[in-house]
Amino acid sequence: MKQLLFALAIMFTTVVTQAKTLIVYYSYTNNVERIVNELLTQIEADVIEVEPAEKGLDYAANNYAVGSSQIAAIRENPSDASSYPAIDPVSVDISQYSTIIIGAPLWWSNMAAPLQTFLFQHGKEMAGKNIGLIVSSASSGISGVESDAKRLIPNGKFLSPSLWIRSSQTSNAKSLLQDWLQTIDYSNLTSGIESIGQDNNGSITVYSLSGVKLLADAESTATIPAGLYIINGKKTFVTR
Ligand SMILES: Cc1cc2nc3c(=O)[nH]c(=O)nc-3n(C[C@H](O)[C@H](O)[C@H](O)COP(=O)(O)O)c2cc1C
Repeated sequence: MKQLLFALAIMFTTVVTQAKTLIVYYSYTNNVERIVNELLTQIEADVIEVEPAEKGLDYAANNYAVGSSQIAAIRENPSDASSYPAIDPVSVDISQYSTIIIGAPLWWSNMAAPLQTFLFQHGKEMAGKNIGLIVSSASSGISGVESDAKRLIPNGKFLSPSLWIRSSQTSNAKSLLQDWLQTIDYSNLTSGIESIGQDNNGSITVYSLSGVKLLADAESTATIPAGLYIINGKKTFVTR
């Protein structure tokens, strides 16, 4: 009977595709980067860091003059590609992902310009996907950044609320992210099974199917209930 159930589970699993998360961010002074690095200790995701094509720009010099003029150009003509600063080319297949988390610095109440360029190029491919927004600002509120995200990803399924982390709170990112992931019900957002098989060599890391880390550097799965998990990168069916 157990074998039959297992065989049925395999048949079931082959028709469901794996749900994956992508994190896209830009960071000039590394606050968003620190937040993303903390997030990666809590969920499994691929990551893209957006890089401006022009290197060495000082966005903060002369009272933030460069950043300010980039934002002004976008505000003036948001539907024209030439309003957006060039970024290094990014090769990404957005269709692989069911959830996209965007890590955005706030510039003059808007989303930092290089990240807007990425979303101008790829936002339409994100239609129907879960979109989570994390914004870092010194003190300004984030509604302008939320509007930018909604303009650039016209048919995204935005997760509510967005997470606002002030620069001074960056070192508290761990608990702020934990709370936020719970609030948006991250662990139930995605589901799906690709294959079954257990790789039990040495220590193991166990994730739920939606990518929430349940056990790190463990020696056995004894403490988790029966069910489907991602163990050492593979979908695994744990029996009891
Ligand atoms: C060009 C520019 C404009 C900014 N404008 C604002 C602003 O209007 N309000 C604010 O609270 N913070 C503003 N900031 C501060 C950033 O939002 C804040 O330092 C954030 O943590 C930066 O993230 P990062 O370190 O990942 O680049 C600005 C920063 C830059 C570089």
